[in-house]
Amino acid sequence: MARITASVYTSHVPAIGAAMDLGKTQEAYWQPLFAGYEYSRQWLRDNTPDVVFLVYNDHANAFSLDFIPTFALGTAAHYEVADEGWGPRPVPPAEGHAELAAHIAQSVIQEDFDLTLVNRMPIDHGFTVPLSLMCGEVPPTGQWPFKVIPLAVNVVQYPVPSGRRCFQLGQAIRRAVASFDEDLNVHIWGTGGMTHQLQGPRAGLINRDWDNRFLDRLIAEPAQLAQMPHIDYVREAGSEGIELVMWLIARGAMADVAGGPAPVQKHRFYHVPASNTAVGHLILEEA
Ligand code: DHB
Ligand code: FE
Repeated sequence: MARITASVYTSHVPAIGAAMDLGKTQEAYWQPLFAGYEYSRQWLRDNTPDVVFLVYNDHANAFSLDFIPTFALGTAAHYEVADEGWGPRPVPPAEGHAELAAHIAQSVIQEDFDLTLVNRMPIDHGFTVPLSLMCGEVPPTGQWPFKVIPLAVNVVQYPVPSGRRCFQLGQAIRRAVASFDEDLNVHIWGTGGMTHQLQGPRAGLINRDWDNRFLDRLIAEPAQLAQMPHIDYVREAGSEGIELVMWLIARGAMADVAGGPAPVQKHRFYHVPASNTAVGHLILEEA
């Protein structure tokens, strides 16, 4: 049987990808950020999964205002790297696990979650930056060390899904993975956040206290955290802080939410700022 063995949470920022691609990771501005991922890279080498179910948001690259799926599940065998205006990042495309994705679609849709299925979805910084942070530099000729299943969540154009809905979806994804009849080690990653606002009079907003309380609650009381309304995210975490609802999908897929033991916290990291964003990172392993 397939099983989820860990969840990983990390922010994404395009400038992080650019820092890696341009060889700037040891510069004074970036060094403390990348130091926070050294443990994670070793952990991932020691605990390499077969598949990463990667929850992220597209930033008008695969999608646009022409069509706005709330939850778009990637069911492809292959994902090209998006050109966000400066050419695609020099990182490998990602290979999908189409069979497990199809099974998750079948299971989750029959549990009444209306996913959109996507067979062609170029992956933007929301996807490639978490991969780069966790895997480090991958040679241009190389491959990412696992297959992926992308879930693109609309957190860009209102109305966006509630934290509660995201948390429920994570629980359904857990059941779907557990009913796949192949021995696969699966991680689920929740990405985006933490506090940031890129526009308007409050551009540059960072809220350290709120972010750290979010991390505390994500670990200890995710079901209560999932009840938090959008207005609290926008007020306290900034307009782009709403990306954090995606972390609740990954957290909802952990065993304790289904009545099992609490996960083990392997790593927690927080750093301000990266570009305009507060960076948070967490690794939870199943007990
Ligand atoms: C930044 C952060 C984001 O989440 C994003 O999608 C684009 C830019 C930033 O802080 O620069
Ligand atoms: Fe973003």
